Amino acid sequence: MHPTNLTTIALFASGSGSNAENIVRYFAHRPDLRFVVFCNKPGAGVVERAARLGLPVVMFDRDSLYETGKVLDYLRAHEVSLVVLAGFLWLVPAALVQAYPQRIVNIHPALLPKFGGKGMYGDRVHRAVLAAGEAESGITIHYVNEHYDEGQVIVQARCPVLPGDTPEALAARVHALEYAHYPRVVESLLE
Ligand code: GRF
Repeated sequence: MHPTNLTTIALFASGSGSNAENIVRYFAHRPDLRFVVFCNKPGAGVVERAARLGLPVVMFDRDSLYETGKVLDYLRAHEVSLVVLAGFLWLVPAALVQAYPQRIVNIHPALLPKFGGKGMYGDRVHRAVLAAGEAESGITIHYVNEHYDEGQVIVQARCPVLPGDTPEALAARVHALEYAHYPRVVESLLE
């Protein structure tokens, strides 16, 4: 039987899932937390990671998110109280935002409001930062609203852009910030 004070966190990911895994590992000493991976991309790295970590995975498609409301049903069925986006690219629909007010967070690999919005993800972000000649980049962890990358900022952390940086080199520096900060922000939202 489960203790009654379990908290369930949904990790929405459609990519490699390294942030998702990092968060799960950070909370390895917390038996009061459960994680469920929500994924819209069959074959995504996060699915294999979830299997390795022994986490349940909910696969869903566009209709389940935007038309039928099934994703919300799954969240409720799993008694999810916090939704953490970690490499999830689709817009979160208003119904979900309203069902989880200030309980959905995202991480963006740049200093919003710059270099955000639809289509700004992954290497595209880092290429844009380099093309703009920015002296620094970083991460933004923010609440999610109905617009891409526009919800209230919770934390930003910065790193330098170095001479001769490639998108890959910058991405590695930014990922290190993500791994250091995202679990702690999630932890703060549990209190
Ligand atoms: C991260 O860079 C995150 O900022 C962005 O998507 C990427 C996900 O990477 N939202 P991973 O799948 O966690 O490795």
